Amino acid sequence: MTDLLDTAERLTREELEALQLTRLRETLRRAYDRVPFYRDAFDKAGVRPEDLASLADLARFPFTTKADLRDHYPFGMFAVPESEIRRLHASSGTTGLPTVVGYTERDLDTWADVVARSIRAAGGRPGHKVHVAYGYGLFTGGLGAHYGAERLGCTVIPASGGMTERQVRLIQDFKPEIIMVTPSYMLTLLDEMERQGVDPRSTSLRTGIFGAEPWTEEMRREIEERLGIDAVDIYGLSEVMGPGVAQECVETKDGLTVWEDHFLPEVVDPLTGEVLPEGEFGELVFTSLTKEAMPVVRYRTRDLTRLLPGTARPAFRRMEKVTGRSDDMIILRGVNLYPAQIEEILLRTPGVAPHFQLRLTREGRLDALTVRAEARRDATPAEREAAAGAIVRAVKENIGVSVGIEIVDPETLERSVGKIKRIKDLRGTA
Ligand code: DLL
Repeated sequence: MTDLLDTAERLTREELEALQLTRLRETLRRAYDRVPFYRDAFDKAGVRPEDLASLADLARFPFTTKADLRDHYPFGMFAVPESEIRRLHASSGTTGLPTVVGYTERDLDTWADVVARSIRAAGGRPGHKVHVAYGYGLFTGGLGAHYGAERLGCTVIPASGGMTERQVRLIQDFKPEIIMVTPSYMLTLLDEMERQGVDPRSTSLRTGIFGAEPWTEEMRREIEERLGIDAVDIYGLSEVMGPGVAQECVETKDGLTVWEDHFLPEVVDPLTGEVLPEGEFGELVFTSLTKEAMPVVRYRTRDLTRLLPGTARPAFRRMEKVTGRSDDMIILRGVNLYPAQIEEILLRTPGVAPHFQLRLTREGRLDALTVRAEARRDATPAEREAAAGAIVRAVKENIGVSVGIEIVDPETLERSVGKIKRIKDLRGTA
């Protein structure tokens, strides 16, 4: 394995930190000199790029938020002339304008390198066939995975999302070893295999690289068992690059190794912004270290996790699986609840499938939450009733709040073809 690693992956922690410091200085300088937004923000905070003497000094620099990117729509955050931009991507905002990101030729090269490294860490090797079912387009998933797989020397099957029936046929005929897809769309594909009479465990697939949305350890077990594969987690976000910011190594499956030679992570208290020590939970913040077109300084991801020491790649810190995003947090009668907590409970409950939706309504002045979960195809009415009771009790015991439950018939909830939206907020409509 070690002979397959990049030079950077073999650095000692000390060497890695020295590299980070040099690259961080360059990034801050580049941002300050070339992007008026950063110049103003640094000036207001009374800091200059040359004030950075150590990595810890980064805490003196101001944060960047999604709102800042939106305020400079479309190209106001770019640090290079438009003629040097080779690619644009955008993430669809739920409200108003999308966030636009740009890449120079070198940025695209770096991106392909980190995704290639990620696929290798997942167990991929040159010569493997990679079925990419992340959406191609402005979303970074499809093209990000695509160029990374090519860079590693794999054969890419650019399936994109949708046309589920055909995807199953392609997997049968082309025999890929690896699939890259959102975990929720993987479930849709699994159901479709079963509908077509294909035994999921009989396919050529050996490895699944799943990301772009939260998923739990319980979901990993479900997918690994049904498909007979290794399921590993890939993380990233458009503002920082796309997929390939962090990747779980297949030999440890213990959280995601952050490719810290390109992306410097911090975890901060979401309320005070104070930097938290390793091991403490908070909001993940990234500073890019090598990006040319759109450097980001202390970008607030809104993803909640904690940093842990390296294992499979000793010099590189890990981040724990992201199971919650501050945007997806439901506050129900004062109790914080994330969709992943419900997923965990459903997957432990016999009789229900892992397809679910959370419906938020208002009853009088109080918010109410109803979990709509699908029955498994073979569940009897008695099992459905038992499941309903078990779910309500488990939510009350584990999360500490009462919810409603509806067990719906198999194949009635909307299926994912990409990132799934779990929460249906009906509070404004009643
Ligand atoms: O989702 C990039 C990506 C594509 C990552 C394919 C992995 C695979 P955005 O559309 O900008 O980019 O959304 C980024 O998605 O801030 C997280 O909230 C969430 N997310 C991404 N990966 C994971 C993951 C892509 N592995 C946002 N676990 C991020 C949990 C994830 N959440």
